[in-house]
Amino acid sequence: MIYKSVTATELGGPEVLQVTENELRAPAANEVRIRVLAAPVCRPDVTVRTGEALYTGTPLGQKTPFVPGYAVIGVVDAVGDEVPATDAQIGDRVGVLTVTGGYTEYLYWRSDRLIPVPETVDPAKAATIPLNYIVAYQSMHRAAQVEAGDTALIIGASGGIGTALLQLGKLADLTMYGLASPGKHDILIDYGATPIDYHTQDFVAVIQQAEPAGLDAIFDGMMTLDYIRRGLSLLRRGGTLVSYGEPAGFSALFRILATLVGVNLLPNGKSFKLYGTSSYFVFNQQPFMEDWATLFKLLEEGKIDPVIEKKFSLLEAAQANTLLESGCVTGNVVLVAPELL
Ligand SMILES: NC(=O)c1ccc[n+]([C@@H]2O[C@H](COP(=O)([O-])OP(=O)(O)OC[C@H]3O[C@@H](n4cnc5c(N)ncnc54)[C@H](OP(=O)(O)O)[C@@H]3O)[C@@H](O)[C@H]2O)c1
Repeated sequence: MIYKSVTATELGGPEVLQVTENELRAPAANEVRIRVLAAPVCRPDVTVRTGEALYTGTPLGQKTPFVPGYAVIGVVDAVGDEVPATDAQIGDRVGVLTVTGGYTEYLYWRSDRLIPVPETVDPAKAATIPLNYIVAYQSMHRAAQVEAGDTALIIGASGGIGTALLQLGKLADLTMYGLASPGKHDILIDYGATPIDYHTQDFVAVIQQAEPAGLDAIFDGMMTLDYIRRGLSLLRRGGTLVSYGEPAGFSALFRILATLVGVNLLPNGKSFKLYGTSSYFVFNQQPFMEDWATLFKLLEEGKIDPVIEKKFSLLEAAQANTLLESGCVTGNVVLVAPELL
């Protein structure tokens, strides 16, 4: 039997995404086969495909061809030898943080690297949890450690992670300000945030007037030195700026790291942190498993409701990427199995 994936044949625009066929096989030892129900189209899918990702051109850079797709939600449909009974079994709903490989009808994955997903939740909404919501949740609760009543600024409030921050910030009872294009301000207002148009308004002046004592937390999806410096100027003593965006290159990253060391050594009580999901693969997976469980529970209880601009069929990844790159998206773009469209 044949299954299909969407492969980036080379680095470039959405036109390099082509449907390719593969032979369905039995899973190897310690592996499960997952029938994919939904896969988000995320900003890092775009930067790795276009060659804008940090490691492009280095030995760690993405080789082509490759199947993009940072995460999936699916159903285990076959289990390999030696998969322990405590791991997911046939019929179980699971998620995977794939980094690449998600634009596919079937996925093979290690049985000990699966995220339990409740069966009651919409797979398309669930697909936003493994990446965009975990970035938002951990930036807010592990890095900034916000408390009810805190004041916060979200730089990039209308995007996939920004809308997750808005929902989680409302749940956490924060007073929020958000930067977004004017056509997307309604969603910020819906979640109780004060919108600021970064094209025409000086956000530093707006916030200095509204919050003269300074902000408790800033969530920065841009990760440019300019936003970081202006953001730091707005923090009160004890406040934290968390940058979770992608740096524009190694020289930008080194300058940001130098700023980070400088800020954290200064005795002004301000803290600057960088956040990346790469710590899931390099360090401790336990906090991720705990936070994914918390987020799926919030989704099941209807306390969060991921914003989905548009759903596409799994093999329409090229069209979905074109939409995300257009800059017209509020929230998330998700690929789903055809029966879920
Ligand atoms: N650290 C991690 O582990 C991790 C994981 C996933 C993603 N990321 C990174 O996080 C960043 C945000 O991801 P996302 O999925 O939320 O992206 P997204 O859905 O594409 O949203 C991008 C956001 O950036 C805003 N924006 C664009 N240009 C801006 C500017 N000049 N000033 C202020 N805001 C601007 C957009 O606002 P308007 O559309 O309203 O103009 C939009 O809110 C990306 O760099 C992504 O690569 C990091």
